[in-house]
Amino acid sequence: MPFDSNMASLAPWLGIALALATTGAHAAKLDHAPYGTTKDGKQVEIYTLTNDHGVVVKFLSYGGIITEINAPDRQGQVADIVLGFRTLEEYETNSAKVYFGALIGRYANRIGQARFTLEGQEYKLAANNGPNSLHGGNVGFDKQVWQVEPLRMSDGVGATLSLTSPNGQEGFPGTLTVRATYTLTNDNALRITYEAQTDKDTVLNLTNHSYFNLAGNGSGTVEDQILTINADRFTPTDATLIPTGELTPVAGTPMDFRTATPIGARLRSSFQALVYAHGYDHNWVLNKPSPGALSFAARAYEPRSGRVLDCYTTEPGVQVYTSNFLDGSLVGSAGRTYRQTDAFTLETQHFPDSPNKPQFPTTELKAGQTFRSETVFRFATDSPFPQVNP
Ligand code: BGC
Repeated sequence: MPFDSNMASLAPWLGIALALATTGAHAAKLDHAPYGTTKDGKQVEIYTLTNDHGVVVKFLSYGGIITEINAPDRQGQVADIVLGFRTLEEYETNSAKVYFGALIGRYANRIGQARFTLEGQEYKLAANNGPNSLHGGNVGFDKQVWQVEPLRMSDGVGATLSLTSPNGQEGFPGTLTVRATYTLTNDNALRITYEAQTDKDTVLNLTNHSYFNLAGNGSGTVEDQILTINADRFTPTDATLIPTGELTPVAGTPMDFRTATPIGARLRSSFQALVYAHGYDHNWVLNKPSPGALSFAARAYEPRSGRVLDCYTTEPGVQVYTSNFLDGSLVGSAGRTYRQTDAFTLETQHFPDSPNKPQFPTTELKAGQTFRSETVFRFATDSPFPQVNP
């Protein structure tokens, strides 16, 4: 990984902007500033990545939370296209409910009955979602303060976030070291790479939990935003959203997004999977040229603004969640309440409950091995990428 260690030695480098390229109207840069203090007294910083074209991604050292992605529409008008809050306190209070923008681990999504067996030993986890474990348990990676190091890439600006999760944390075996790198590239993509190592065999599933609304955060429902998912099959679940273990064809069902379809077109169908989840909240089995290949997963398109979001991943699955559990009780960063269908997620991942489903691609990480995964979110419009209006 082309990490420039000279950059790390600049710390503390509060307020220093790294001018990396000047080919566009905006010079790519990375800034940071204090954001707040956690309830248990830890300092949290906010980082701002800006690329040559004026696309801006902001994230926190707390939970690796992406708080804003500012992307232009076809006219160059910028909007923040992810849901978020205005303060650290709101992120701390509500993360366990919504996980806005956060890095999720050790195990993104659900593990059935909050337990699994690895090499003959049973591990018990916190049941924080009915009988199941969700998103790493009570204090997952979304609630930890990550160490952040700036990163100079040839194709953009970024930072590496790292943490060490002690053996037994939230019930998972092994001391796990994790590095997630956010890079905003000059071709308008947010690339997220993950690396992890353990000193004892364990299970692992890492993702980012950004909620997208391509018409703008707080602008209302995404039902008319048009989604394509490169998947012939999905993993149906029981009523608690634990996969049955089958891989079911999407053909002829409301799960079929192989051709571009408005998110809302079939959202209120009586199809059992949609009833269980109160909307879309499912794992699609991505079509891949080969396991682990970085390949096209999904596209979302918002016709009025012309904004397009393409998602590529090395992961075998993607969870698309239409914010079914947002109920109007939370006020977001745009000063408006969030409701069901106000956003969609594209949580690239291994399948839910893989530790208990030997037929699924394995989520086991063996001692001494390195886990690697990559997801790319590319921002575009339906006409040539516009000059961002100042
Ligand atoms: C899950 C949802 C959950 C949401 C927020 C998604 O990844 O699939 O069921 O409500 O995260 O926690």
